[in-house]
Amino acid sequence: MSQTIGFRSPEEWERVAKERLEKGAFEYIQSGAGIEETLQSNTEGFKQWKIVPRVLRNVSKVDLTKDILGTVSPVPFALAPVGFQTIIHQEGELAAAKAAAIHQVPYTVSTVSTSSMEEIAKVMGDAPRFFQLYWPSDDDIALSFVKRAEKCGYSAIFVTVDTPILGFREQDKQNQYFPLSKGQGLGNYLTDPVFKEKAKLITEETQEAIAEVSSRLFNPSLTWENVKWLRSKTNLPIVLKGILHAGDAKLAMDHGVNGIVVSNHGGRQLDGSISSIDALPAIVDEVKGQIDILFDGGIRRGSDVIKALALGADSVLIGRLFAYGLTNGQDGVETVITQLIAEIQSALALSGETDLSSLQQIEVVKT
Ligand code: FNR
Repeated sequence: MSQTIGFRSPEEWERVAKERLEKGAFEYIQSGAGIEETLQSNTEGFKQWKIVPRVLRNVSKVDLTKDILGTVSPVPFALAPVGFQTIIHQEGELAAAKAAAIHQVPYTVSTVSTSSMEEIAKVMGDAPRFFQLYWPSDDDIALSFVKRAEKCGYSAIFVTVDTPILGFREQDKQNQYFPLSKGQGLGNYLTDPVFKEKAKLITEETQEAIAEVSSRLFNPSLTWENVKWLRSKTNLPIVLKGILHAGDAKLAMDHGVNGIVVSNHGGRQLDGSISSIDALPAIVDEVKGQIDILFDGGIRRGSDVIKALALGADSVLIGRLFAYGLTNGQDGVETVITQLIAEIQSALALSGETDLSSLQQIEVVKT
């Protein structure tokens, strides 16, 4: 493990990314939908919830081990699916996945990764990994992705359900920037036999491939029936990513899924939707202990992780935090991971707890 980068705050990472990346790429990562009300409320929301720490409880040893979807993880977080990682660093997903693997932190491969899921699996060895599905408009391709993920060692399928269509992202429209149009993020499609057969790509022409993928990328007609169908097709744990309503959490459970991610897609889909942290308590009341509750949106520091877990999340995902670190390749992502682990250890001990199982006894109040 070679880490040459010293301490960097999340704000400093963002500043470094802004300095190094081209404007369109940086703003694609940093921005949200609309006027960014939801993007901002994800981080602001955390500031409104406060920990009421306990003292004199012997916190000389802390243990962050956590079960994430049946995988024993040394930490209560995984890396969120983030598409097109080659817009951040030339090695893209391969660099981030290697960093995650070294620390045994689960890595989630996006459908729109530039390297294919097989290439990523290869550099990860037997380290824990999940596959995120943007359900294509063609079910045969969706199933082909899931079967490939089963074959190359992915231990859960995250179906992103908050993206029947792409959010209205003003910054990207202004910059006329979408990474797919530049030929990024095609790795899983271009290696898929079912897609190739359906698209009948007759040349190696990138523009043609981009058009064929773009026309199949999302599926606005998805319903709970599709979830039922997928449940019958795979034994892997299924996680629905992008749940904000307790009623949907209950429906997810009723449809036999194994987990949900309480998430508004980092404020990139419906602007004006509730912040992730404010959505969490009602969902915890509805399904806690019955399915895994994962959480993402706005996590920048160890204390944010502690707040989410104390409010009832089982584990969390980090998105932009590691994406900015990827500006420095594998080293950068490793630095982000080790720093976040140190922060969680500190926040846990200073809250008065030594492991994550009793964390819900720590009071977190809204101010
Ligand atoms: C994302 N996210 C995302 N989600 C998903 O299901 N599939 C994907 O391909 C992507 N791609 C993606 C790209 C970029 C640049 C960002 C910032 C986000 C959403 C991501 O998984 C996660 O929900 C949010 O990033 C969480 O919020 P924070 O941690 O970024 O505040």
